[in-house]
Amino acid sequence: MLKKSLALLLMLILAVALVACGGDQDTTEDAGGTDETTDDTGGEETTDEGDAAAEDDGGKVEIFSWWTGAGEEDALLALIDLFKEQHPDIEVENAAVAGGAGTNAKAVLAARMQGNDPPSTFQVHGGAELNESWVAADLMQPMNDFYEENELMDKFPEELIDLVSKDGNIYSVPVNIHRGNVMFYNKVIFEENGIEEPTTLDEFVDVLAQLQDAGVTPLALGDKEAWTATQIFENLLLATLGADDYKALWNGEVGFDDDRVREAAEHFKTILGYVNEDHASRNWQDASQLVGEGEAAMTNMGDWAKGYFSNDLNLAVNEDYGYFAFPGTTEDFMVVTDTFGLPKGIENTETVKEFLKVLASVEGQDTFNTLKGSIPARVDADKSKYDEYGTDAMEDFQNNNLTPSLAHGSAAAEGFLTKVNQEVNIFVTQQDVDQFIEKLQAAGEM
Ligand code: BGC
Repeated sequence: MLKKSLALLLMLILAVALVACGGDQDTTEDAGGTDETTDDTGGEETTDEGDAAAEDDGGKVEIFSWWTGAGEEDALLALIDLFKEQHPDIEVENAAVAGGAGTNAKAVLAARMQGNDPPSTFQVHGGAELNESWVAADLMQPMNDFYEENELMDKFPEELIDLVSKDGNIYSVPVNIHRGNVMFYNKVIFEENGIEEPTTLDEFVDVLAQLQDAGVTPLALGDKEAWTATQIFENLLLATLGADDYKALWNGEVGFDDDRVREAAEHFKTILGYVNEDHASRNWQDASQLVGEGEAAMTNMGDWAKGYFSNDLNLAVNEDYGYFAFPGTTEDFMVVTDTFGLPKGIENTETVKEFLKVLASVEGQDTFNTLKGSIPARVDADKSKYDEYGTDAMEDFQNNNLTPSLAHGSAAAEGFLTKVNQEVNIFVTQQDVDQFIEKLQAAGEM
């Protein structure tokens, strides 16, 4: 008995000493690595500190995401640190799987969910990805009580609550709002070539040609993972269809045989004539890097690239790099929202809720989003903490037409997205508009 108490006391002292010496820094130290996003599929990073403390009573929260890479990991680690400050007795396992837009993580997650081995909580886009995959399969716990208890019902925009709800129940908590229809550009290149930010597709094509003539790579693309090209195509669909009909595409009211879908595909083909030759061997960070380092003029990327430019390349917004809405979509905001929910079958729901409370809090959202490039999902976050890009994005979110992203899971079910990514990948090489349209139609009819 005495031995046991002594052992417990020793463990406690050790845990306190570890925390005091900064023993909880493991998860933050290698934040911002540049090249890890492609090759450690399935790798899990586990924090090994605090075992003694965890055994106390706090349990463990396993956080599953795909935020391992440059421009993304920093934000997650800062949120984890904040959580640990508030709950030193709860162990955190950062189970991130590398690969932009969840290229690999989604497959790992699916295998785990099907094998009754869900993580405590996982990154999932609001909309179809959440509702048609996991909620429809009855694998998520409703979170209405969580929202009521934590007075969250009026803290998120209604549109977001809708995206994370199905049949009257709420199933996850949004941590952010990213914008998918952003063009980032190198300020020096634009200035040297006397280029103004294009607002229409015609102006865009003129600018691409002008840059090409000047010997500059006009558009950086890294479609080693096909979603980056799908993202360009969805922005073109938004530009040619307009917000209402773009949305109608996802409920079948507008078909893929519409002339404006063809128009988007024709533009896609034109634009692909202006990308870097090595696009197929780069990922989104590598492509953004070309812009940051002055080797290409522009890139279309969700504003996680803003986190990458600012945090990883140390570039200043509106000095080194600028941004504008994807041409033809200046009145629209392509919504990409990362959310976290509670899978059924986890043992420590109450502990996991503690993490979700921090993620849902003003402090949690501001800690995360000031690093991630996104804006907070909460309506009452502290705007003064965000830079010019962030406050601009907040304003646009308020005033623009909100449209769900296909490439980032909100607009259509995962099976359809997988097909579109495959067809986009083929289109990038073959550039056969007729075949592309046919395949999109076929995918839509399935
Ligand atoms: C996610 C972002 C992430 C991006 C690149 C998107 O699908 O919503 O949080 O930064 O993919 O990995």
